[in-house]
Amino acid sequence: MVKIIFLGPPGSGKGTLAKKLSEEQGFWHISAGDLLREEVFKKTSLAEKINEYLKKGALVPDEIVVLVIKNKILASAAANFVLDGFPRSLSQEKALEKMFRAINSQIDGVVYFQVSEDEAVARLSGRLNCPKCGAVYHAVNKPPQKDKICDVCGSELFVREDDQPVTIKNRYEVYQKQTKPLVEYFSKKKLLSVLTATGTIEQVYQNLSGILNKISR
Ligand code: AP5
Repeated sequence: MVKIIFLGPPGSGKGTLAKKLSEEQGFWHISAGDLLREEVFKKTSLAEKINEYLKKGALVPDEIVVLVIKNKILASAAANFVLDGFPRSLSQEKALEKMFRAINSQIDGVVYFQVSEDEAVARLSGRLNCPKCGAVYHAVNKPPQKDKICDVCGSELFVREDDQPVTIKNRYEVYQKQTKPLVEYFSKKKLLSVLTATGTIEQVYQNLSGILNKISR
């Protein structure tokens, strides 16, 4: 079983590549952001609190994220999976290590999506999401066939509330301060592979496949 983490700045393509990996190679895709947005959408008891942070582009407190993601991780012991957007801080990494100890498992590798800030911001600025099936498009790089309509399920596409310029800037700052230190952390543990995340989605997927072959050997 191959267990990997996708680490990288907002807009670097983690979700897009994780979805592709899930469709083409059957990996479970566990996305912290998707799970948190689902809580908000379903108006659970955590929804209001979570939304306060999502709207600002700040990290949701650890105890809430861990609560939301833990069962998915524990249930994935016998699967190939990709963790997208978790951990995002050293304290979350410690929580993750504890979860893995509980299922007698471990992470096999961490893929770091390397892309310039300008490129990532341009990607986020044109992103379009499907509220029903979760498909992700881009106005220029990956436009839907019909304007603002999902190719997969026909729903009307929307722009995420946190994809506004001020919030994108804040998410970037949060990434630099709280998440980027994990790059060095995983590098020291010899778990880090750097993925060149520029080029077309297909090219990045080819690069990723090369890395996965090495990790799973
Ligand atoms: P989350 O949803 O995880 O957002 P993020 O990490 O900021 O990442 P994004 O979804 O913005 O980008 P991505 O790298 O997945 O890029 P994508 O594939 O969509 O988290 C949102 C919020 O939730 C956080 O701000 C925080 O509040 C909270 N949260 C989440 N995890 C948390 C945690 N662990 N702890 C605490 N709080 C947490 O691609 C972007 C666009 O680019 C798309 O339009 C796509 O079509 C396009 N694209 C992708 N690849 C390419 C390519 N190669 N060429 C051209 N275009 C491309």
